[in-house]
Amino acid sequence: MTFVQGPVRVRVPATSANLGPGFDTLGLALDLHDELEAEVAASGLLVEIGGYGDGEVPLDERHLVVRAMRATFERLGKQPSGLRLSCTNVIPHARGLGSSSAAIVGGVWLARELVAGGRLLLDDAALLDLAAQLEGHPDNVAPALLGGFVISGQDADGSFWAVPGSVDPRIGAVVLVPGSPVSTEAARGLLPADVPHADAAANAGRAALLVAALAGHPEELLRATEDRLHQQYRRPAMPESLALVEALRADGVPAVISGAGPTVLALTDGPGSVTTSELLARCPDGWDARALAISATGAVVVH
Ligand code: HSE
Repeated sequence: MTFVQGPVRVRVPATSANLGPGFDTLGLALDLHDELEAEVAASGLLVEIGGYGDGEVPLDERHLVVRAMRATFERLGKQPSGLRLSCTNVIPHARGLGSSSAAIVGGVWLARELVAGGRLLLDDAALLDLAAQLEGHPDNVAPALLGGFVISGQDADGSFWAVPGSVDPRIGAVVLVPGSPVSTEAARGLLPADVPHADAAANAGRAALLVAALAGHPEELLRATEDRLHQQYRRPAMPESLALVEALRADGVPAVISGAGPTVLALTDGPGSVTTSELLARCPDGWDARALAISATGAVVVH
């Protein structure tokens, strides 16, 4: 096994997971991208960060991108003599927009590109499986890898799968991002071990409807984004986000908690619906709001 000379650069999209009823299974890639560059060096480890995480995340073997790269090199059979990594982060951290998945996907993708013939040694299915193993659930890493709307899950043997769905080109997104973070670990810790059968049944129907709504029935998005499995349980960690979701939904806007929160994702569905500018105007003080297109592509090499 040999390494490629010179730097490799990749860009990876932000992602919004769950989309209401699709807890740990549905996700959407958004047009907001972190860029990462890495190259094999003679020795040592040099990590540089620009943007989110600068001055906050560890610049050593604990760095999430480095951990993902190490796991990928391990899978490919050999660690490089040294490594240089540079990350330009525009995806906010701990807001429910898939920053950790972007780091993991960026890491596994970079490491595979740095190995000559890496794509033959580790195919896309194996890369998805490795990324999801590192993240623990697949609904962010799958759209970060594949782009667009993705349905993903885990089989009984522990392996992960992902299938792309389609998105009606009329559909766009507005994200309303609170100033304070909520960790995914804390948000998952609020979930009950068991849920009522009626809630599970309601979510299964809504998740199935959402696949159809995104594919070409945007008029069904409000009904299709109802959730009973996670959002209410997470209210104590993000009461303002839940209040905003409820206020928007009362006005007919298909709004949900993005991933594990606290960002609010509102879907826009073209003529006749609440406009993007009306949604941006609903941004609470101290929050950041932006309109984002759906990113049709996932992680890509930048030349
Ligand atoms: N499905 C995950 C959760 C997404 O809601 O905990 C976390 O990014």
